[in-house]
Amino acid sequence: MVKLEQYGKILPEVSEAVKQLQKDYQEEIATRIDSRSGRGNDFLGWLDYASKLDEKEVERIQACAKRIRENYEALAVVGIGGSYLGARAAIEAINGLYPNDNFKIVFVGNTLSSNYTHQVIEFLKDKKFAINVISKSGTTTEPSIAFRLLKDLLEKKYGHAYLKDAIIATTDRARGALKKEADAEGYEQFVIPDDVGGRYSVITPVGLLPIAAANIDIKAFLKGVKEGEKEYSVHDISKNTAYYYACTRYALYKMNYPVEMFVSYEPQYQMISEWLKQLFAESEGKEGKGLLPDSVTFTTDLHSVGQMIQQGSPTLFETIINVETPNYDITIEKDKDDLDGLNYLAGKSLSYVNHTAFKGTLKAHTEDGKVFANILSVEKLDAETLGNLFYFFMRTCAFSAYLLDVNPFDQPGVEIYKHNMFVLLGKPGVK
Ligand code: PA5
Repeated sequence: MVKLEQYGKILPEVSEAVKQLQKDYQEEIATRIDSRSGRGNDFLGWLDYASKLDEKEVERIQACAKRIRENYEALAVVGIGGSYLGARAAIEAINGLYPNDNFKIVFVGNTLSSNYTHQVIEFLKDKKFAINVISKSGTTTEPSIAFRLLKDLLEKKYGHAYLKDAIIATTDRARGALKKEADAEGYEQFVIPDDVGGRYSVITPVGLLPIAAANIDIKAFLKGVKEGEKEYSVHDISKNTAYYYACTRYALYKMNYPVEMFVSYEPQYQMISEWLKQLFAESEGKEGKGLLPDSVTFTTDLHSVGQMIQQGSPTLFETIINVETPNYDITIEKDKDDLDGLNYLAGKSLSYVNHTAFKGTLKAHTEDGKVFANILSVEKLDAETLGNLFYFFMRTCAFSAYLLDVNPFDQPGVEIYKHNMFVLLGKPGVK
């Protein structure tokens, strides 16, 4: 479903390097993934999660989303990192930034900012809202604090008995403080499987419940994922876009391009870039290795970072997410006075102008500038293609991280920051 095109003056060298990687590593790494024998292999549950997911569980998620939409005015999705980014990315990419929906979804517990948290509480305080608290460990500080604050708000307003129906917990099958509380209070629960890490969990109830609550078809989303399971597991990298792109990233890294700039031409895809940054940075950035993911939204950022990309330090390559058909379009009308001089565009659509800006920028960056560009295209962005795209990147990431010879599924650095913060905050039992 995802098509890959590549541009840039160094394309012949990159293609040569990819061919060599194919010879040296294709079979070994593809087999390592399929046979689940590589580093972090107990976290490969996402590989076939969608095709193994019980239809009844999908229907339970849909029923829960329906119940929330019918009985509440808003849903607060509480979570951080992998327990947050995928759901928000999907909802914004599909429904847009100003969705025409009376039911509101807000994200909280993804920061310790008192400004942000205060504003979310103010937004919710006069609304009848439900909470979907999402945490695999059940002990992460940011969502735990936000959850406590929101629970308090509901309890003060409606009493303790109200919480049972208003809270849905997505957490570990057996462990953690959230699991204990959910059992004790009788909240409806969904399981984050043991063998799926946070940043690979958008295809589990972590993503599925908020996505369904945003009225998006999760069966179509899972269909896209399942198609991806077949498409992106093919060993031959010349027939597998995910693995070919993974080899390209590694080749560029070795050729001294350590920064990957994700580019889109749609503000509503910004959170997809945030999800990508987490996926690649947490999976690859360890043992002194890894590509640094960054992101821009054009044409907006052509008026800021574009200059640097084209003519600044030659350290980056671009990966452009190109959706061929937008969900909405606008025609530019003819104006009788033409004072703004725009009549030469009369009858053209805004998406045509946006796409032309894309073509002009690509030429500027790859022909006048020295930038290498991957273009990842899908025909349109709906639930099915997005499921496929997420899975595409997850496969790419596993293959890339194995080329780098790191464990794609741990995040030892994150654990160290948490530990230090707990020591400073005086958390009991942490030294
Ligand atoms: O990808 C990851 O593993 C992390 O980003 C986690 O998702 C994040 O730290 C939140 O963890 P938890 O779901 O345990 O609250």
